[in-house]
Amino acid sequence: VIADDLAPEGAPAECLAALRRASGEHDGPMERHTVRQFLIAERLAHEAGTRIDRELLLCAAFLHDAGLYAAGPAAGVYTADGRRLALDTVAKYGWSEQRRRLLGDAIEQHHALTSRVHLGAEVELMRRSDLVDVSRGIIAFGLSRAWLRGLFAAVPRTGFWVTIGHELRRMVRERPSTMPRIFAPPSGGRPA
Ligand SMILES: [Fe+2]
Repeated sequence: VIADDLAPEGAPAECLAALRRASGEHDGPMERHTVRQFLIAERLAHEAGTRIDRELLLCAAFLHDAGLYAAGPAAGVYTADGRRLALDTVAKYGWSEQRRRLLGDAIEQHHALTSRVHLGAEVELMRRSDLVDVSRGIIAFGLSRAWLRGLFAAVPRTGFWVTIGHELRRMVRERPSTMPRIFAPPSGGRPA
């Protein structure tokens, strides 16, 4: 499983474990989506010569969609739920306020419809890389077709739309009023 190779220990391993608890799957379609999303973000950063906080980017990727699995009366805007889960998960690692804010924004802003580069490189990278994977590379932000084909072969997309479709339908049933806010997160970012 590639996810374990990317995150052998520490906060990223803890975030991967949290995703597995939330989704009830190990190396499932959602986990593979988060792995591809991370590898795409890392590649985008490399090609642009952008320095990244790799540990933070891994944590953000693993948990960026985990709020989809929230249930019950406490479930809100799923991207905000994911932010909370991620910040709870890394709490014991003593991250700075700055890193906690970046991690939270990277998750909460990943469906924003316009650039979030002013909030930090990792925040915009999560937004772009999710678009690349969800669109199956139709939106590629300059990544080569060959590289993307290799990625999709190495980390298969099998089952992705079944999983996403299932969770989206549940969201429409259980928290429809939260859906517009997924695409219009608080644009200034917010404190961790
Ligand atoms: Fe995603």
